[in-house]
Amino acid sequence: MKKKRIGVLTGGGDCPGLNAVIRGVVKASIHRAGAELVGILDGFDGLIKRRIMPLTWDNASGILVQGGTILGTTNKVDPFHYAEPDEKGRMTKRDVSDRLVSYFNELKLDILVCIGGDGTMAISSKLMQKGMPIVGVPKTIDNDIWGTDITFGFNSAMTTAAEAIDKLHTTAMSHHRIMVVEVMGRYAGWLALESGLAGGGDVILLPEIPYDLDKIRALVGERSKKGRQFSIVVVSEGAKPLGGEMVVQRMVKESFDPVRLGGIGQKLASDLESATKMESRVTVLGHLQRGGVPTPFDRVLATRFGVKAAEICLSEEAGVMVALKGNDIVSVPLQEVGGKMRLVDPGHSLIRTARDLGICLGD
Ligand code: F6P
Repeated sequence: MKKKRIGVLTGGGDCPGLNAVIRGVVKASIHRAGAELVGILDGFDGLIKRRIMPLTWDNASGILVQGGTILGTTNKVDPFHYAEPDEKGRMTKRDVSDRLVSYFNELKLDILVCIGGDGTMAISSKLMQKGMPIVGVPKTIDNDIWGTDITFGFNSAMTTAAEAIDKLHTTAMSHHRIMVVEVMGRYAGWLALESGLAGGGDVILLPEIPYDLDKIRALVGERSKKGRQFSIVVVSEGAKPLGGEMVVQRMVKESFDPVRLGGIGQKLASDLESATKMESRVTVLGHLQRGGVPTPFDRVLATRFGVKAAEICLSEEAGVMVALKGNDIVSVPLQEVGGKMRLVDPGHSLIRTARDLGICLGD
């Protein structure tokens, strides 16, 4: 029987566990069926610019715990709106997806594994309509991909944020301060919610629940009256005050989603200092949350995702994304995933848990 040729790419922002997925796909498809694997460099850009590397048992070994991705990635490429110079040297956006599909065919690939976030899944879904067989693997520290209970990368980022919140407690207590911690997560509050719960935050602010400064001031005041002369505020980069807007740090125009959030932590620390007269400081965790070794939880999840993706590649079933449902690894149609976002439902059980603990969610 002809050996399957499988392409693998990583797209969007990096996160811990990408290499564990690559390793899972490579080892399982070689072990089970002697497949041939081709790594595409820097996400879809590699298929446009024809940049590849072989993926073998050897170079997929020893990478389980390595952060980042051995294939490189970018969160600035959309093949359907690709920026490149025109005949007069002016940067213009055009649809180069046909170029990408023909290189895929030239490489004689049977199927492509796209490991990425919602942007990568949306692009994959459009490429499938052009006849490219694709299997998606959901990655992101934001945990906002529709169709899976959890994405790999989230647990590692959440652990980093929780550890940071633990450490900030000592200065908060010693100096009787409000310590504001700004975490990533884009439009979804999962990272703030879970790291805030794990780190014992007193206030947790999410994009899904606009906050009222007075409610936070009241909580901080009550804590002071009870002798707790400090407060820890965990704020999602996408949080916004009631009637206000998210704080945009910059626009990256080549990106699938050009908005980069950031800055709400600083605003909140200043507003709280004025409102409470307590000294306040902000810590922005930024890309620290995307770095480092994956947690054992993420290593296992990423490995299961990779092995399931390999199994799908070896069968005839393309056009799906692997997903975690309960304790099972399943597949969901890619077409259903693209363009949707999994946000925190204000009625979610973790929200109720936080409220029952007396944590202020800003409302
Ligand atoms: O989607 C992952 C993420 O880290 C978001 O949490 C954050 O808003 C964004 O990417 C940052 O993107 P960049 O690396 O381009 O600054």
